[in-house]
Amino acid sequence: MIDLSTEYLGLKLKSPLVVSSNPLTGSTEDVQRLEAAGAAAVVLPSIFEEQLTLESNALDADLTRGTESFSETTGFFPAYDNFRQGQDTYLELLRSAKKVAGIPVLASLNGATAGGWVAFAKEIEQAGADALELNTYSLPIDPRISSSVIEDGLVELVRQVKACTKIPIAVKLSPQFTSIPSLAAKLDKVGADGLVLFNRFYQPDFDIDNLNVAPRLTLSRPEELLIRLHWAAILYGTVKAQIAITGGVHSAQDVLKSVMAGGQVAMLASALLFGGVSHLTAVQAELVRWMEEHEYTSIWQMRGSLSRQSVPNPVAFERGNYIKTLSSYTLRQSA
Ligand SMILES: Cc1cc2nc3c(=O)[nH]c(=O)nc-3n(C[C@H](O)[C@H](O)[C@H](O)COP(=O)(O)O)c2cc1C
Repeated sequence: MIDLSTEYLGLKLKSPLVVSSNPLTGSTEDVQRLEAAGAAAVVLPSIFEEQLTLESNALDADLTRGTESFSETTGFFPAYDNFRQGQDTYLELLRSAKKVAGIPVLASLNGATAGGWVAFAKEIEQAGADALELNTYSLPIDPRISSSVIEDGLVELVRQVKACTKIPIAVKLSPQFTSIPSLAAKLDKVGADGLVLFNRFYQPDFDIDNLNVAPRLTLSRPEELLIRLHWAAILYGTVKAQIAITGGVHSAQDVLKSVMAGGQVAMLASALLFGGVSHLTAVQAELVRWMEEHEYTSIWQMRGSLSRQSVPNPVAFERGNYIKTLSSYTLRQSA
């Protein structure tokens, strides 16, 4: 009997198959469907810093308007109701998902700067989230802001969220930091319970006919997994935070690689958007089949077996590998 169980953010999970934040986790029915297909946990779609600050700014404006005239003014109360709409809808999704789900439900806060909006983490906790994923997607375009300022801001953000809530916090990171191990160590220090490797960046495409720059979302490809495996393998065993891999996990083999790199869980989104929720069931079946064939009895047994600290030749993860890879290329004869 194969034991697929794992632990992530201190939560016991029946397998490493987690559905990451995406529109497929956006309703109670979706969460039920994913659980039935084999999901061990789900991350709800994000609520955004901009949404939370916009709404609280709207409240400030309404309150000011209210004091300028009379608080009973007819326009005041509808505007006040609007203030909480996005937040209440989110908390309601969380509560109803928790009511029906037998698996952990993680909420997702998406923001880049420390500030009052992080207090929403407390409400997320009160609504019953088993954990909170903090997506820290930011885009540094101001040349006066150095990388260390950005990193310090991110660490401060995590510190503030940790101070608001007692549920475990996972930090979803971008791969584009100068030193991921240094940042990971700082996040460890402020108590991040998990590191989610990595966010995908969505660059706008150029429409050269209409001289327009427009957003474009493409789903991931399995090749995108490699950078995640690389950094998970380097970080494994060096940080207390547990590692989740998101980005390019499409098959059972990708899940196995993620675990062998040191991931507690492997998250799927694009693969399910491509192949439907039933793809998750196929991935789990193939996971079991492969483990049986290779005589593994548990996920724990293989975790970190291809991490930097476990492989006989750690140079594979270092600069030496870069040189070797470049020099291994042989030019093809042109016809
Ligand atoms: C349509 C779509 C919506 C997404 N929405 C969110 C979101 O709200 N919050 C978040 O943290 N990640 C979001 N993601 C990112 C995914 O959770 C995931 O990290 C990313 O797509 C990489 O995993 P994949 O290769 O399995 O797609 C979204 C991805 C897609 C494709």
